[in-house]
Amino acid sequence: NALSPDQVRELVETARTLAQEAGELVREGRRRHVGVAATKSSAQDVVTAMDLASEALLRRRLAELRPDDAILGEEEAFRPGTSGITWVVDPIDGTVNYLYGISAYAVSVAAVVGPDPTSAPDPATWTAVAGCVFAPEDGRTFTAGLGLGASLDGVRLHANEPRPLIDSLVGTGFGYVATRRRVQGRIVAELLPRVRDIRRVGSAALDLCAVAAGTLDLYYERGLQPWDLAAGALIAQEAGAQVTGLRGGPAQESMTVAGPAGRIEELRSLLESLDADSDG
Ligand code: IPD
Ligand code: CA
Ligand code: CA
Ligand code: CA
Repeated sequence: NALSPDQVRELVETARTLAQEAGELVREGRRRHVGVAATKSSAQDVVTAMDLASEALLRRRLAELRPDDAILGEEEAFRPGTSGITWVVDPIDGTVNYLYGISAYAVSVAAVVGPDPTSAPDPATWTAVAGCVFAPEDGRTFTAGLGLGASLDGVRLHANEPRPLIDSLVGTGFGYVATRRRVQGRIVAELLPRVRDIRRVGSAALDLCAVAAGTLDLYYERGLQPWDLAAGALIAQEAGAQVTGLRGGPAQESMTVAGPAGRIEELRSLLESLDADSDG
């Protein structure tokens, strides 16, 4: 990362501006545009008109403010750039909550630098430098800049101190792939007697921010996509948590685990012993 602290701060401000603008659009539009516009990978995997409108706003604003940067978003094709910076955006993270009027949804915006700016970056190889997760229903704004710490509404965040798994509140989520849900159900059944309790909030970005804020001790999920974790993982890391995969690997689609050093290891080795990243 060859960016200066001032450059990182500028990217954080851009991420915040964009996430808040898109978040306000999404919150205002809920009454009028809350129906399912289409389904994607499965009947459970829905998209609303506001997912599309929010991503369109993010892309239009980025084209104005940062015309040389690439954009990777959930709802539209990768747009290559020339600057070496890619914006990784989730226009609504928690679409099912949004559809049902549950307030736990957010807009997630991150800037990452990676080895190849002409193709879509991969969480296993990129470095996230700036991120914002904005939850419009309660107006909470989580931000982080690489090396600059993480905050919630301007107040510095610190992940919880290590505690044993049995005393830990653990967040997780389930992707939309039915065969994987069978495995995810098996893992939750094994985990539930070994932890304080489990939460399925419905927004991966907010789960990662919850680890940063200490309202969850730990979080794990299989099947996360780049836009689900780009901003939230940086926010969790800058709050002092670790965000990794299993078996020594980086956080990626096969598994993402987040929590403070000294507490994450016990969850990770349990997930490894349960083959939580297998399809069988
Ligand atoms: C989903 C949410 C959910 C997680 C899924 C994601 P979407 O994102 O983050 O919490 O369990 O894996 O796909 O589709 O609402 O943007
Ligand atoms: Ca989606
Ligand atoms: Ca998402
Ligand atoms: Ca989404």
